[in-house]
Amino acid sequence: MPGLKKTIAVLPGDGIGPEIMRAAIALLSDCAATFGHQFEFREFPFGGTAIDRTGNPLPNETLAGCKSADAVLLAAIGGPQWDKLPLEKRPEAGLLRLRKELGLYINLRPVRPRPSLRNISPLKPERLSQTDIEIVRELAGDIYFGKHEKGGEGANAWARDVAEYSAAEVDRVARYAFERAESRKGKLTSVDKANVLSTSTLWRQTVTALGKKYPTIELEHMYVDNASMQILLKPDQFDVILTGNMFGDILSDEASALAGSIGLIPSMSRGKEGTPALYEPIHGSAPSLAGKDVACPIGMISSASLMLRESFGLETEAQWIEAGVDRVLDHGYRTMDISSPDSRVVRCSEFLEMVRGDVHDAATHTERYGWGV
Ligand code: IPM
Ligand code: MG
Repeated sequence: MPGLKKTIAVLPGDGIGPEIMRAAIALLSDCAATFGHQFEFREFPFGGTAIDRTGNPLPNETLAGCKSADAVLLAAIGGPQWDKLPLEKRPEAGLLRLRKELGLYINLRPVRPRPSLRNISPLKPERLSQTDIEIVRELAGDIYFGKHEKGGEGANAWARDVAEYSAAEVDRVARYAFERAESRKGKLTSVDKANVLSTSTLWRQTVTALGKKYPTIELEHMYVDNASMQILLKPDQFDVILTGNMFGDILSDEASALAGSIGLIPSMSRGKEGTPALYEPIHGSAPSLAGKDVACPIGMISSASLMLRESFGLETEAQWIEAGVDRVLDHGYRTMDISSPDSRVVRCSEFLEMVRGDVHDAATHTERYGWGV
């Protein structure tokens, strides 16, 4: 592939965000130098840090920067210092607004346990088997974006969150999920709560109707309570899981645990073809780890490689980054949160240096600074 020129909006956010973002940018820069691409990184304030600076989690300048970029890389937002703010002023509100403004209605979360990390999965190897799941979560509707209301006081206090879906909203995300399944094992599990919720009844009808256009796909429907159990009992029965915003939020955290840690899972959020997609790890800002250089950068790094593959069509480059991560893991190096008794624990920045260079050189570096090995 001839050299590409791309602009990437960078939102480091809060907590461990800036530390893990540094790792992703360093690897993307190496990748650009190695393969002859030009990536321009434009950094913008977002989340709690933006609230502190401007009073707004999504300043206009940040939104404009994201809209005009070829893709957006986000690390993580939020933290206890902003938890007391009303919902609509919190860092999370900025993320929801950004998703809405960029028209991001598809959220893809791949859960593919890495061979070298199978021992940190809470599941026995025979249950984990060949688990390789892609969760397609609807991202622009549901109870997240319906009216949120509250009133009254004391014993009379009340609150209401409205869940809403239109057939068109279900159809557009379901199309993507069917296509995704077509490019994989050809199985799609649509997850809902159609025995109780009207939105789920509409969801199931719409997905079933669309299924007629994809006769080669094996479509099944599953209630969300059962799905959450099946993910633990027999995760390798799934190929692509399609579900709504709220169920997708919950099931993707659950499924990430199969891989051993939520810190390992990347995501892509996208809208219409030709508009910038957003890539972020699915974990949060881990305030208790912030500033200590101990966070696991793999979810962030994998989000960068997902961006290369999905937004820029750079499959070889994406594999180049992933292979670097695997090589370091294969040598037994782990950040603290994904370590096991026989691992060599390294800092976030050391893990990065090992991915960037030769593992053994990095090990020498580690010895020199008295860390880990
Ligand atoms: C996620 C997060 C967000 C969500 C929060 C931070 C608003 O949990 O991306 O999964 O609920 O979508
Ligand atoms: Mg979540």
